[in-house]
Amino acid sequence: MNAIQESLGRFSRAAQRLGHRLTHTFGPQPEWVKKKQVVDSEFDAAHGVETGGITELKRLQVAGDAQDSVPHIASDPDEFHSAMGALGIDHGRFTFVDIGAGKGRALLLAAKYGFKRIVGVEFARELVEVAQRNIHAARLSASTSILHQDATRYELPDEPVVQFMYNPFGGKTMATVARRTRASFDRNPRPLHVVYVVPKELDTWVQAGFVAEQRDHYAILRPAT
Ligand SMILES: C[S@@+](CC[C@H](N)C(=O)[O-])C[C@H]1O[C@@H](n2cnc3c(N)ncnc32)[C@H](O)[C@@H]1O
Repeated sequence: MNAIQESLGRFSRAAQRLGHRLTHTFGPQPEWVKKKQVVDSEFDAAHGVETGGITELKRLQVAGDAQDSVPHIASDPDEFHSAMGALGIDHGRFTFVDIGAGKGRALLLAAKYGFKRIVGVEFARELVEVAQRNIHAARLSASTSILHQDATRYELPDEPVVQFMYNPFGGKTMATVARRTRASFDRNPRPLHVVYVVPKELDTWVQAGFVAEQRDHYAILRPAT
């Protein structure tokens, strides 16, 4: 077997492993993956950015618990817009925070809503670097930034917040994030909407003191008062 065949073999085994993992995480995948590839290439070509693909985290420099995370996959634009529309808020009064921001697709999408500020929090260094390039390429204003940080250490700003999450991690990390989000609200009660896409750990948020409004593929959580 030559070197090229060996690499192809390695690639195909890795793709198979990823396929099993995605099937396990997101359900049966072929149609889903095909649709995603089309959406990714259209979005990236239209905006001159690189947000697509499925990126496993295990070879990346990660500032936290990669075992409790899923691979990087960017938000679907239609799903994102449907969730932002459902909030029924004046977006310009809010700071948008994407917990697990990846390559920054949601930050780019959020830019259309006139948020006061846009902040991404991402723990994989390589993805932060891609997101920084994308923010620059899309010429987003200085009010958009990305932090290289573990979500469990991030402090929400003391402002009205839309906290966005696209299935970034499992129950252990989510429990800490939900508890800290609730504590931030208790310290400073303010308008706070959590948009959780593919809400696999919804119960964790309810247990932490949030009321859930479930939609098709996402949930909106607000602090129970
Ligand atoms: C499914 S991707 C979503 C990307 C982006 N939010 C979007 O909507 O396009 C989840 C992201 O969460 C990040 N992530 C997972 N665990 C994290 C943690 N503990 N702290 C910060 N980021 C994390 C992953 O590296 C990945 O980029």
